[in-house]
Amino acid sequence: MLNQLNIKYPIFLAPMAGVSTPALAAAVSNAGGLGALGLGSSTIDGAIHQIKQTKLLTPNAFQVNFFCHEEYKLDKEQEKDWIHFLSKEFFRLGKEAPTQLQQLYSSFKNNDDYTNLLLDTKPKAVSFHFGLPSYSQISALKSSGILTMVSVTQLSEALEAQALGIDILIAQGIEAGGHRGMFNPSRESGIFTSDLVSILIEHPQIQLPVVAAGGIMAGDAIRKMLDLGASAAQLGTAFIQCEESAANQSYKNALFQQKNTQITDIISGRPARGLISQWHQILASCHEVQHSGYPYTYDIAKKLSTLDPAFSIYWAGSNVSNIRRLNAQALMETLIEELL
Ligand SMILES: Cc1cc2nc3c(=O)[nH]c(=O)nc-3n(C[C@H](O)[C@H](O)[C@H](O)COP(=O)(O)O)c2cc1C
Repeated sequence: MLNQLNIKYPIFLAPMAGVSTPALAAAVSNAGGLGALGLGSSTIDGAIHQIKQTKLLTPNAFQVNFFCHEEYKLDKEQEKDWIHFLSKEFFRLGKEAPTQLQQLYSSFKNNDDYTNLLLDTKPKAVSFHFGLPSYSQISALKSSGILTMVSVTQLSEALEAQALGIDILIAQGIEAGGHRGMFNPSRESGIFTSDLVSILIEHPQIQLPVVAAGGIMAGDAIRKMLDLGASAAQLGTAFIQCEESAANQSYKNALFQQKNTQITDIISGRPARGLISQWHQILASCHEVQHSGYPYTYDIAKKLSTLDPAFSIYWAGSNVSNIRRLNAQALMETLIEELL
């Protein structure tokens, strides 16, 4: 299946909404890996533009990525409580808290605009996070020759994905930076990347290729995953520091200064791993308050993060301390040298 992508080395760039760029995706694809665009937070026009730009920068395959979360019905009481809980932080900064929370992004699932975008622009591969698209969407994508992939965090999700016709499984272990890909955000499996790869490879019913993701920072870790039976490894955190990434300088600096990460759902409304910040400190004071669900919770968190650097949102994997300062091409060359 992976042969269809014609990649030279089994190294995938993780799609990272807000961080990946056409230049980063193309640099990885041009170096023989699979570049990626995280388009889950983009508008339709923005996504089309990024895909076109990437095609101009590389003749090689790359993947694009969308969110397939179940749309959350905002509970007005919960919205009020969550805004009230955070309002003291806005007050401290001399600002008004928002009165309403916005649904920042919609789901790919059953959204024809997204399907048509892919049928028109025809990237070689598309991956999904937080769940699966509908059967008819998968059929339409596959009929037009687009490979489909999905992040899975546990066996049941892998079996569901395979039954629906997905082509490749991205096995996301608990070490991974950014959002956990669970289909149901309250069903955390907590499985390490290498264990998840083994579970999927050894399971008699799983026939699909498995790509390992989570905590992989160097060629020896990629080798370990391939030895367990993975077809490739997907790296996110290692690439955030690249000059081609859209991460701002404070984010890039923080990756070299801090080494501890934690998972919490109070930043976006879904569990996600990032550098320790003020968010993780206020957790204790919100035991009684329920956040407003994804992506509504993310809306107020993003607003607060732009007002106070202590509330910055810096997603990163648990092995961030092994990060190296290299541009995308140099990082790819280093990973390939370490791997071979
Ligand atoms: C900054 C950041 C943003 C991410 N955004 C996405 C995304 O938009 N879509 C997605 O499928 N995965 C996303 N992820 C998760 C990655 O696909 C992948 O699982 C993770 O980066 C692997 O762990 P690592 O960061 O330790 O390499 C993101 C990860 C990070 C660090």
